[in-house]
This record gives sequence, structure tokens and C-alpha cells, in this order.
Amino acid sequence: MFHPEGEVAAAKAAKAKKTVQILSSATSTPVEDVATALGAPLWYQLYMPVRWEGTERLVKRVEDAGCPVLVWTVDTLGGRNLETAERFRRIDMRQCTSCHATAHGGRTPDELPMFKGIEGGMNPATANWDLVDRLKKLTKMKLMLKGVVTGEEARMAQQRGVDGVIISNHGGRATEDGRATIEDLGEVIDEVGSRYPVFVDGGFRRGTEVFKALALGARAVGIGRPYVWAMSAFGQEGVERVLDIMRAELQLTMRECGTQNLKEITRSFVLKNGERISEPRV
Ligand SMILES: Cc1cc2nc3c(=O)[nH]c(=O)nc-3n(C[C@H](O)[C@H](O)[C@H](O)COP(=O)(O)O)c2cc1C
Repeated sequence: MFHPEGEVAAAKAAKAKKTVQILSSATSTPVEDVATALGAPLWYQLYMPVRWEGTERLVKRVEDAGCPVLVWTVDTLGGRNLETAERFRRIDMRQCTSCHATAHGGRTPDELPMFKGIEGGMNPATANWDLVDRLKKLTKMKLMLKGVVTGEEARMAQQRGVDGVIISNHGGRATEDGRATIEDLGEVIDEVGSRYPVFVDGGFRRGTEVFKALALGARAVGIGRPYVWAMSAFGQEGVERVLDIMRAELQLTMRECGTQNLKEITRSFVLKNGERISEPRV
């Protein structure tokens, strides 16, 4: 939607800057081609097909492409109400594709490369924890759940043998209640312990904010819109620049706090409502 090179530009930038890329199921470039452009293990974000045979097919394809981690997005299973996006809905209904070439080329979701041949749609509203077990049996890939926002959910994922969680509200596009995901970090880490991989995304715009998430116990921070905006303007180069800026800001904050490596970034560097926060259980 944002650049003709799309996911391949993101992959080349991620390769240049040694960053993990998690490829969306809605990619306009097939997983195999993005994996080649990245030249390193590509993580894959799953929108689960409603029909199980579709899931089997898709997961096998992703596994065959060499992906080591499957990230199942669970925050859109119940549908969503995109009020903000609705307010920005365009009123000029001329077809953009009649003047501008896009990678999507006006394709509908079921014409996207990862959804081709898969019938019945995505995101089964009846999904439950048994599907986690089924998915784990189906694949050797590590499994993460994306879209967890409470300690309770994270604990249930951990107990089911899920390998890690990404705290996310889909950039405010799943639950749009104004609560920031960084607010959820403390509760989640306290519930699952500091050894369990917990990532976070949503609203991270500066290295200082990445520092705070790491301090609260996140293992990694994801970005969505910052790289997409950069790509819209400058393609691969823009994505590289965004990664450079965030890394430089993180480094600067680390220097100012006297933390020489990521391990040294602990909760002692952040205050919540002016109060110190205790370290998480191990
Ligand atoms: C335009 C757009 C499309 C997105 N598409 C997907 C998607 O296909 N799958 C998914 O798991 N998340 C999707 N997300 C959510 C992102 O993966 C991520 O959680 C979010 O953008 C992080 O917040 P940030 O944009 O503030 O960094 C999308 C977000 C945006 C803004």
C-alpha cells in the first residue's frame, strides 16, 4: 500500500541494519521472495484461515520458506471497530489505481499471494486455546501470540507452551481505548517472569521509549507505522534511516544512564507516577 517495493524494501533495510522482520500475512510479496531478500530467518505473522485445511497449507508453506517463528495475531479474531480510520475514510472515491501503479494493484484480500487458494476467509471468531495446541502440533516453528494485553492471557499462553508473546493492540487498531501497551508490560512480566520472551509494540517512536520498554522487561520492541511512513517517502533508505535514528537514540539514552549493555537496563531507571517499581520475579 505504501511503496511499490513494499515488503522487499523492508527486508533489504532489515538485512542492512540486522533487524528481525515479521512478515504480515497480508503481504503483497510472497514469503519465499521476502525470505530471499532478507537473507536471514524471516518471522511470519499468521492470520489464521477459518478452515483448518487452509491453516495446514499456509503453515507448511511458511515452514518450507525457512521461517523459524510463527507469530499468530489473536487481537482481530473477534472483529474490530475502526472508528478513527472511519473518520479518515476518503470521500473522493476515484480509483487511485487508474493513475498510480501499486504493488497491491487493487487486489482484494483473497487475491493476496499468501491467501491464494485458501477459501473461507481468515480469523475464526470461534478460536480458543485448543487451537494453540493444534497449531503447536502442526509445526516445528516456534509459536508466539501477538495481541496479548493482560498478565492473565500471557500466563495462559505460557502454560500452553507458547514460546513468547507480543504485547500489542494492533497499533490501536484492535482495541481503541487509548490505553498504551507500555502500560501492560509491568503486569505481563510480573505474571510470566523475566525469563519468558515478551515483546511489545504500539506507539514506539523514539529510542528513549524503547529504553523504557526494555527497562520494564520487554525482550524486544516492534515498530509498525514509523517504518511504513519512512518507506512511503524514501523506500528502503527511509526504513534504514528510521532504524538508525531509533538505535542512535537508544544508544544515547544508554550512555546517559551508564548502561553498557541491554542487561543493565533495569526497572531502576524508570519511575511510574513518580514511584520506583520493584524488579520482576525471575
Ligand atoms: C496499516 C497497518 C497495517 C497493519 N497490518 C497488520 C497485519 O497485517 N498483521 C498484524 O499482525 N498487524 C498489523 N498491523 C499492526 C502492526 O503489526 C503493529 O502491531 C502496530 O503497527 C504497532 O504500532 P505502531 O504502528 O504504533 O508502531 C498493522 C498496522 C497498520 C498501521
